[in-house]
Amino acid sequence: MPTNYDDIADQYKEAKYQLWRTHIERYTILNLVGDIANQTVVDLACGEGFYSRMLKRLGAVDVLGLDLSQGMIDLAKAEESREPLGIDFQVGDAREFQASEPFDFVFAAYLLNYASNFDELTEMCHAIFQSLKPGGRFLTVNNNPCDPVANFSIGKTYEYSKRLEGDLVEGAPIIWTFILPEGPLSITNYYISKERLEQALQEVGMRDIRWHPPQVSPEGQAEFGEAHWQPFLQSPPVAFIECFKA
Ligand SMILES: C[S@@+](CC[C@H](N)C(=O)[O-])C[C@H]1O[C@@H](n2cnc3c(N)ncnc32)[C@H](O)[C@@H]1O
Repeated sequence: MPTNYDDIADQYKEAKYQLWRTHIERYTILNLVGDIANQTVVDLACGEGFYSRMLKRLGAVDVLGLDLSQGMIDLAKAEESREPLGIDFQVGDAREFQASEPFDFVFAAYLLNYASNFDELTEMCHAIFQSLKPGGRFLTVNNNPCDPVANFSIGKTYEYSKRLEGDLVEGAPIIWTFILPEGPLSITNYYISKERLEQALQEVGMRDIRWHPPQVSPEGQAEFGEAHWQPFLQSPPVAFIECFKA
């Protein structure tokens, strides 16, 4: 059963502020995004707009945030009303997304890991490819398919857990649980191997696929020390991927 974010939108918003997400996820994405001044951007599976807002603040000229969940988009729009940045938020399925004008940059945090089979993954990748201008860039973070199941227990240190349901085959559910002050929040991703992810991206026409290691912010290093982050860096639970439309 795919996670319905309508019911957990507020809790998921809280989960964005876990320490690993600030000091690793957000910091690594910030570095990988680089200079996007004056670029047009779509944030697919934007959730409540955490990264859409970051991308706009980084100088993107136009940002569109798209998400399947009305609840998530309601939160994104509420934040946009509270502090207008000029971001357009829409409800929609990334697999069917058709850009009216192609974008310079497509961003998607935790979209591809919602594909429960290769066809769904290909639909997502095809929509991404079609949404990009020639030479455009796609950046994404997802569950790391190379994270060994034996390593899932390291999450305790960082207030999450990962659990595989059944065997590690294509489409197998991987359940992430975030330990939050109000209680645990679980969401379900699906396993697709690194090779199949690359195959889907290549088949739709994406080129120059780069897998980037996570980075820890200087503040995170100073506050918690290198040893604290070592297990995460040794076998990262999430993977950052960048590729380009030729
Ligand atoms: C883990 S949340 C990430 C939200 C946001 N990118 C972030 O990092 O804060 C995953 C999001 O993907 C959305 N989602 C899942 N499948 C989708 C699809 N096919 N099209 C658009 N959004 C989708 C969910 O509704 C949810 O908001």
